[in-house]
Amino acid sequence: MDYYAVWGNPVKHSKSPQIHKIFAEQTQQNMEYEAILGDPERFEIELLSFFANGAKGCNITAPFKERAYDLADEYSERALAAEACNTLKRLDNGCLYADNTDGAGLVSDLARLGWLKPDQSVLILGAGGAAKGVLLPLLRARQNITVSNRTLAKAQHLVDKFLSYGNIRAAGLSNIPRQKFDLVINATSLGLQGKTLNIDPEILRLAGAVYDMQYAKDKDTPFVALAKSLGVQNISDGFGMLVGQAAHSFYLWRGVMPDIRPLLENDSV
Ligand code: ATR
Repeated sequence: MDYYAVWGNPVKHSKSPQIHKIFAEQTQQNMEYEAILGDPERFEIELLSFFANGAKGCNITAPFKERAYDLADEYSERALAAEACNTLKRLDNGCLYADNTDGAGLVSDLARLGWLKPDQSVLILGAGGAAKGVLLPLLRARQNITVSNRTLAKAQHLVDKFLSYGNIRAAGLSNIPRQKFDLVINATSLGLQGKTLNIDPEILRLAGAVYDMQYAKDKDTPFVALAKSLGVQNISDGFGMLVGQAAHSFYLWRGVMPDIRPLLENDSV
């Protein structure tokens, strides 16, 4: 039986064990997957001993994505771009391989929703780790990106870092060009505090679609609620992205891509 886990703090809320159990049953993989509460003082020691004891891989969630990244020996291009990892795999030679499947999960979900056309204009709100984790896959999907952040310098820093991959520019939160964005993505952490961003509502009213990278079970996230109140037609929270990133991690570990549709169509998680 191969052993996997998700590490986070807190981690009790994580849906990853349920999602991977369904993937494993669907693809007939003999594996176990559980949630592990990481200790902020001993994270590196405990993670290394997890692998020394034979674990094959793990997901990493907040607040450990950067620390796990620092611990790895080898990196995917998308992990290097994100400077954080949500997936580790133990290679046959014992080395730890870091990947970041968050952006691939987002891109898969946008494609599923029919919201991913090449050369469209995308506004990303936020310039923290969540935004950085998805920029490379979005640019590779030929999206023209505006990154807007409360702290403009952080948005500009991301733009400088990713400029060589495609069309990307920065804007302050109060200076977002009043244009029709095909897609607006919330990548700020504000929803976790039950709050939404203070931006020009016209930007959301004009948007072709609005996506919140956060999700909430059985209720609207604050950002989704805001978009609904403004009459936006195409709105999604990030549940499909969560399932999508899990599917890409599963594929890295097991070499088989699970079907995410049953999880999104039935209310099984
Ligand atoms: P994460 O890993 O979730 O992205 P993070 O790296 O701390 O977390 O980034 C949080 C993001 O939410 C940042 O873009 C942050 O803006 P700043 O860079 O200006 O801090 C944004 N954010 C958090 N609280 C905010 C608030 N009250 N108003 C506007 N943006 C906020």
